[in-house]
Amino acid sequence: MKKVTIHTLRKMKQAGERITMLTAYDASFARLLDQAQIDVLLVGDSLGMVVQGHDTTLPVTMDQMVYHCAAVARGAKHAHLVGDMPFGSSHATPDEAVKNAMRLVAEGGMEAVKLEGGADYSEVITRIVRAGVPVMGHIGLTPQSVHKMGGYVVQGRGEDKAARLLADARALEKAGCYSIILEAIPAELGAQITRSVGIPTIGIGAGPDCDGQVLVIYDLLGMNPEFSPKFVKKYANLAQVIGEAAVRYRDEVRAGGFPTEEHSFSSDRPAAQPKPAPVAAVMPRAPATNGDERPLKLYSVPARE
Ligand code: KIV
Repeated sequence: MKKVTIHTLRKMKQAGERITMLTAYDASFARLLDQAQIDVLLVGDSLGMVVQGHDTTLPVTMDQMVYHCAAVARGAKHAHLVGDMPFGSSHATPDEAVKNAMRLVAEGGMEAVKLEGGADYSEVITRIVRAGVPVMGHIGLTPQSVHKMGGYVVQGRGEDKAARLLADARALEKAGCYSIILEAIPAELGAQITRSVGIPTIGIGAGPDCDGQVLVIYDLLGMNPEFSPKFVKKYANLAQVIGEAAVRYRDEVRAGGFPTEEHSFSSDRPAAQPKPAPVAAVMPRAPATNGDERPLKLYSVPARE
């Protein structure tokens, strides 16, 4: 599978192929989503809510973003990687914004950054792009402006507000964005903006006619039974799966049913086996064994004794 780049995404829009994008915050999820051939992985500042447990994305820092970006970059090979500019990282001065965007690329291993805001951010965006970092815009419901918006409310309803968002989208394209997230806006406006710009639009609660769709991975997996907004479809119920697994583990440990001999090491090392035939030729990349019949693994790393 070929690496997805900003050019791939533009070609997908031109060919009418829908772009898939999901958030990822660590290497394990990144690896799974990459293997599932998701086109774009976003290390979103939504991690402030779903990973860190805050009520908003506002407390997320640059250092934390760099940490999570680097973890995701280690897990993904093919997907296009986008790191979110957290609250305050692009608002002080364009110089500061360029420096922070470069950190997400140089230290975090990202290939682009995402920045919330419309036409007001044109200068900052142009400066970041000129410094060699592709920028994905983000308009509509911009969670970093939660207090200005008076809550997480649908944006762009009514002619004036819709016209302003359309103007923002055009300004972002002109400033040099290679793509734009459209969040929580009427489906008709999502379609209109998508037709009006040459760069791919990626919707989240912006209707079916955007060039692509993005969801927060924890929402898609049903990790929080109390969070079911209209724009989310839950493709799994991991809250239940994880809860049930934890309860089974708890019960087995309490009853002495885990660990059994099967999951225990013995003090006698098994007698040396005759030198095997060249296993690697039959089973490439076999995990290391220490003489027991089965390969041993600790946290996905072959165990050594
Ligand atoms: O932070 C995030 O995860 C996002 C997406 C929901 C678009 O901004």
